[in-house]
Amino acid sequence: MKIDLVQLSIHDDQRGSLIAIEKNNGIKFDIKRVYYIYDTKKGVRRGFHAHKKLKQLLVTVKGSCKVLLDNGKNKEVVLLNSPTKGLVIESMIWREMFDFSEDCVLMVLADHIYDESDYIRDYEKFVEEVK
Ligand code: TYD
Repeated sequence: MKIDLVQLSIHDDQRGSLIAIEKNNGIKFDIKRVYYIYDTKKGVRRGFHAHKKLKQLLVTVKGSCKVLLDNGKNKEVVLLNSPTKGLVIESMIWREMFDFSEDCVLMVLADHIYDESDYIRDYEKFVEEVK
């Protein structure tokens, strides 16, 4: 299973660092929504869904977490622990996020606004649909 980890361009100078993400610079799609997950309680696992169409880019702007990616055949765990790395998740990939550090801020850029009808929240149904 191909893991698409993007190295984001850093603008750093004596003041510190800045990263900009825009279409064709770290991300291939139009960004229609940004959300972030933070203050995640100890031991929490989130996600447990796939998207029919949605594409996303995940960046831990602070701290770290792990992301389980599952295409219905193979599973991979990716550690996100840098604000300079972006994980692209294409449509029809089951994802679970876990092992959040206390300070973790997980930012997600998405190519569509929130749409509950785009979610597959039943794992068995997901496996059926990717077949
Ligand atoms: P949820 O889907 O449980 O998050 P995750 O799957 O990433 O663990 O989302 C938590 C709540 O936030 C749920 O009530 C739906 C709402 N929500 C929005 O309103 N807009 C959004 O863009 C997202 C991702 C969630």
